[in-house]
Amino acid sequence: MTDPRPALLRGPLVRLLDDPGEDDRPAPGSLSYLEDGALWLEDGKVHAVGDYAELAPRLPAGIEVVDYSGKLLMPGFIDSHVHFVQLDILASYGRQLLDWLNDYTFPEECRFAERAHGEAVAEAFLDEQLRVGTTTAQVFCSSHPQSVDAFFSAARRRGLRMLAGKVLMDRNAPDALTDSVASGVADSERLIADWHGNDRLGYSLTPRFAPTSTRAQLEATGAILRAAPDLHLQTHLAENIGEIAWVAELFPEARDYLDVYERFGLAGPRSTFAHGIHLDQPMRERLAGAGANIAFCPTSNLFLGSGLFDRLACREAGLATSLASDVGAGTDLSGFATLKAAYQVGQLLGQPLTAWQGFYRLTLGNARALRLDQHIGALRPGQEADIVVLDPAATPLLARRTARIGKPDSLDQARLGELLFALMMLGDDRSVFATWAGGECVHRRESDGTR
Ligand code: GUN
Ligand code: ZN
Repeated sequence: MTDPRPALLRGPLVRLLDDPGEDDRPAPGSLSYLEDGALWLEDGKVHAVGDYAELAPRLPAGIEVVDYSGKLLMPGFIDSHVHFVQLDILASYGRQLLDWLNDYTFPEECRFAERAHGEAVAEAFLDEQLRVGTTTAQVFCSSHPQSVDAFFSAARRRGLRMLAGKVLMDRNAPDALTDSVASGVADSERLIADWHGNDRLGYSLTPRFAPTSTRAQLEATGAILRAAPDLHLQTHLAENIGEIAWVAELFPEARDYLDVYERFGLAGPRSTFAHGIHLDQPMRERLAGAGANIAFCPTSNLFLGSGLFDRLACREAGLATSLASDVGAGTDLSGFATLKAAYQVGQLLGQPLTAWQGFYRLTLGNARALRLDQHIGALRPGQEADIVVLDPAATPLLARRTARIGKPDSLDQARLGELLFALMMLGDDRSVFATWAGGECVHRRESDGTR
């Protein structure tokens, strides 16, 4: 990528600079709202941020100014757990986890033996992510190393910050998808050498879940992580009751599901455990002690009928939660869909999600959970210029609803909260007016949103 030209984005700017808490009002100091804000971008980073009136006199002559008045600027959204190789089996009818894996997922992932297929799907996946305002994701590829090369090549060409890894799976899956301890290690090490720290890319070790790895494979994965603790790790945990019973059968020596990962050193500060629905409080506390995070995947949990995730029990345990789409069990890549489902799950548990908390999780909260917050999530000076531009009047219905609230450049805090909540419930891909990544505009909505 060539260095992007300096630019100034002008418009209402909302950022969560800290955890806003669970109250109706954001905790003091956690919200920054600039009614006529400005983001001055240079070399792919935020050079300065502030009120437009304050920055205007300091701008270099000839800098491109992009006027987003009437829109809402935020940090680019982050998806902490998603399978790019499942893009084309989204919305496959009617199964719980283990049948869904066997009937739809494994056959689909077999197709990624072909590099060209991986390349085509990676491009489609990234197009779609940017169209919904997601600029960073932690991504499962397939067990074929060429699927990882395809994904990282596409992400690097677009200048994106992405985490990804090759699925490690040496048993209980079709032969065409299983690796061996030795080939899994060799492939992961080659991919780490080629991609980890290459531009904005990072490697995430990816044992699929306990049932599809032998003890020897989990042990070998732990050894790689111990030798290179700046790697990430992603896997699944306690998603489904049948899965948990299977893990207990396969690992009778473990005191519970989490213990399988712990005994091989896989629960650490850069570990993301997807789902974690069926955990008790001591397990949550153990995960918190390790500094790990649970990816809450509400559309997936509802789609597969896996259960209702108790977000506040995690908070009580001091356990970080991130928010994720988990496509293809998740039904939508859009962060808005994830927020809406998270709110609905919360309602069923008597723990509704405020818009402050929701948008915090999609941005800085996820960046913190993934240990990426020095780079992304809050658009502070020096951080990477990944930005989503939202249109509060994207559809006729949204326009009617938000007209009630007021224009995004003149709201008090309560009405800003109302606007964000309306977006959380009614927003979709059409609400993303533009997406910037690494200081460049990488998506511009073509129509007026009404289609
Ligand atoms: N557990 C193991 N593999 C998967 C997967 O691909 N999707 C989900 N939702 N859960 C899993
Ligand atoms: Zn998953």
